Parts: sequence; structure tokens; C-alpha cells
Amino acid sequence: MDTRTVKLVYFSPTGTTKAVVEGIARGIGPGTPEYLDITTPEARKEPLVARENELLVIAVPVYMGRVPALVHGWLNAIQAQNTPAVCVVVYGNRTYEDALLELQDIIVRCGGVPIAGGAWIGEHSFSCPETPTAAGRPDTDDLRHAEEFGRKIREKLQSVPSVRELPEVQVPGERPYRGDPTLWTIDFISVDDRCTQCGVCREGCPTGAISPDDSSVIDQEKCITCCACIKKCPEHARTMKPGLVMEASKRLNTLYREPKVPEYYL
Ligand SMILES: Cc1cc2nc3c(=O)[nH]c(=O)nc-3n(C[C@H](O)[C@H](O)[C@H](O)COP(=O)(O)O)c2cc1C
Repeated sequence: MDTRTVKLVYFSPTGTTKAVVEGIARGIGPGTPEYLDITTPEARKEPLVARENELLVIAVPVYMGRVPALVHGWLNAIQAQNTPAVCVVVYGNRTYEDALLELQDIIVRCGGVPIAGGAWIGEHSFSCPETPTAAGRPDTDDLRHAEEFGRKIREKLQSVPSVRELPEVQVPGERPYRGDPTLWTIDFISVDDRCTQCGVCREGCPTGAISPDDSSVIDQEKCITCCACIKKCPEHARTMKPGLVMEASKRLNTLYREPKVPEYYL
């Protein structure tokens, strides 16, 4: 089958999911991919409509072994019509548990037909220079793997006249989904006097938790601890305060040193 349009949707506060999606797009080529970055609240205002002759790639990071609760509403509102779909999760070298299955289930409920899925590794959101976890990932090998996956998706689609002839792909995971997706409501970011109020942190915040009047003021109820503001600050003015997140960062650094490898299912 011929898919004229490839729509690549990603939620990616710290950019690792985005990098994997771009790798997959290079493999799927040729043509102009349509990217839809749903990281900011403004980008999640309009629902996505996808048709049968389009290919949908949907990618999210893993939060607590699950699809981030923040994007559930937007994902569940996708209107697809037998649209072939590729589900991708990116996790911080701990485990992706049931996130890939959960994402696939959402896409099926929206009318998508999952034809492929995969899990990649990205630098952990809680990784910091003192306690790194999966630092620098996805690396060159990960991205080569993502491109290879993209090429295989194209070959799979070209091998059949219609998406209806493709069996639903099986991905790992359990139902009911394990884990507790509840995030911590926690004051864990320290802002020092290097902050110039440039607004980079505010623009990249996926929940609008940073005050437009003062970047050091954070709405704890909205913060999802994604750490994008810490990692994107050009002045390195934002760091982790001692506490739960810093302890988690140390624990991850100790327990998940062995690099995991990407997996895909076709
Ligand atoms: C609240 C939260 C929960 C997370 N839970 C997991 C997890 O269960 N397993 C894991 O391996 N990584 C976990 N991570 C790490 C992210 O999945 C990982 O860093 C990912 O690459 C971030 O994607 P992004 O760069 O697109 O934001 C978590 C990160 C956050 C912020």
C-alpha cells in the first residue's frame, strides 16, 4: 500500500523521544514527514484526525512504566479511520513495563491499526552530571536502529495492497497495566542567581507550570517533574534540590548502569 502522508506525533519534554522519532522518519523516507509536537499545552488544543491512506507514528516517553497521564486526554481524542499506526515509547534505561501495550490499546480505541511498535532508550529525565543514567542516549547506534525500523515499516506497508491485510502487531506488556502512574507533587527545583529570566524554561514547560512573571516561581500542582526546565536552561541556573527526585536520580544511577538495547516489533 502507498501511504502518501506520514504524520509523526511526539510528546518530548527533554528531546529524546523527538530524536528517536526523527530517526524513524529518516528510515521511512522519502517524502516530507509532517511532525506534530504535542509537548506544550497550546499544541494539545486541537485533536488529530488521521485517514486510512496516512501513516501515523505516535511516540511518548515512559513515566512510571506507563504512558504519561498528561497526554491521555489528547491521545484518546485522536480520530483515526483504519489508519496504520506505529507506537513508540522511550524510557530511561529502567524499564518500560506496560507503556507500549497501553499506547497501542489507546490507538486501537481511536481507530488506528497498529502495524509496528518499539521501545528505545533515552537519557533519564532525572539524570544529572553527578548521577547520570543513560546519559547521551539515544546514541548513534540507537538512531541507526531507529532508521532501520523506519525502513522495515516502509517495506511492510509496501508488501500489502491494504492495511486491512496486516495482522495486529503483538507487543510486550500486561493488562491490567501494572504500576501507579500518579506523579509526585514536589518542590524539587532550585533556581539560582544565574537565571536571566530569558523564558526558555517557560516556553518548553509541558504544563505551563512556570510563572510568566518570574521563572523561579513554579506551580507544584502542575509540575510533572519532567526536568525539561533544568536540562534546557542555557545558564545552568536550575538544579535539583536535595529530596525525593535527587534520591531517585542517585538510585537510578546505581541500579540501572547496564545499558539496555532498543527493541522493535513488526
Ligand atoms: C515522572 C517520570 C517518570 C519516569 N518513569 C520512568 C520509568 O518508569 N522507566 C524508565 O526507564 N524511565 C522513566 N522515566 C525516564 C523517561 O522515560 C526518559 O528519560 C525519556 O527518555 C524522557 O523522554 P523525553 O526526552 O522525550 O522527555 C521517567 C521520567 C519521568 C520524568
